[in-house]
Amino acid sequence: MNPALRTILAIETSCDETAAAVVRDGRVVLSNVVASQIDIHRRFGGVVPEVASRQHILALDAVVQAALAPLGADWSMIDAVAATRGPGLAGALLTGLHAAKALAWARGLPLIAVNHVEAHVYASWLDDGSGRGPPPAPLVVLIVSGGHTLLAHLADARTLQVLGQTRDDAAGEAFDKVARLLGLGFPGGPAIERAARAATGSMHLPRAWLRDSDDFSFSGLKTAVLHQVRAAGGALDDALRAELAAAFQESVVDVLVRKTCDAARRLAVGGIVLAGGVAANQRLRAALLAQAPVPVWVPPLALCTDNAAMIAAAAFWRQDAGLAHGLACDVAPSLRLGQV
Ligand code: KG4
Ligand code: ZN
Repeated sequence: MNPALRTILAIETSCDETAAAVVRDGRVVLSNVVASQIDIHRRFGGVVPEVASRQHILALDAVVQAALAPLGADWSMIDAVAATRGPGLAGALLTGLHAAKALAWARGLPLIAVNHVEAHVYASWLDDGSGRGPPPAPLVVLIVSGGHTLLAHLADARTLQVLGQTRDDAAGEAFDKVARLLGLGFPGGPAIERAARAATGSMHLPRAWLRDSDDFSFSGLKTAVLHQVRAAGGALDDALRAELAAAFQESVVDVLVRKTCDAARRLAVGGIVLAGGVAANQRLRAALLAQAPVPVWVPPLALCTDNAAMIAAAAFWRQDAGLAHGLACDVAPSLRLGQV
């Protein structure tokens, strides 16, 4: 690692958040700016890639300026520029990566490419003001977002190995699709969590355990909800909607938590890190904290959903790999975990 690259300006545009942040030493957040497009995409019931790209272009300059403002727009404090290279929407990734390239080139700074899914893990390294230190490796990490569900083993701050992943829908994707089936809004995760609060807990939906594997599957659960909605024959009232939302949420949480805790026991790690947008779910947080055999690290809500502070943290910890591309770096919409 090059210790000279301590203060990093990072840009994130992999989906529908235009974000920029400045982070020192992969830990101290000097600024963290997020411009969400969610209100624009909500009317379409999901993220429209072309719309996302255009919105990123409109927002990027102001978001980067806002991230630099707390430093007095003093570029001499910035050692490198980082950007998400993948995975994500190709057009959206292009806007942020190319903005980062232009800034790096104009200021004569190195460019660090970042893997977005890995970056969700490094959100736990950011100082959240709680006084608690970063999680000590070895760790088991559960990454649950709109595009990814995976369980990984972090041997040290730079070595991530995949244990298992979803065989069909990502956990967040399942929340979004089931919310649509239930006639709840977008994004589905918060809508389901809200609806479930009114449930009595009288309904039970199946769990896909996939025994002897760390993989996950959520499409069968989604189909089970669909059958229930069809059985109601269009008469889906608020009470039934709440029961289905709660039963779905419990099924997802139960599988995620038990598999993560089993892996932590089997690998005898010292801690568990929960990351990604679905980590905003209070039921998931509470169940993991209650059942985990080891201490759990969960970033504050604002660092769980997409942001650029986590991109800067990942750029710091994985800078050797991220620097290798130079300015010839291209986007990688299907980038896998472990690749940068
Ligand atoms: O990590 P993220 O912000 O973006 C991706 O990289 O995908 O995750 C977004 C996902 C969406 O599917 C959203 O429905 C889900 O996270 N999500 C939640 C909650 N808040 C956001 N899922 C369950 N409960 C929540 N409270
Ligand atoms: Zn994400």
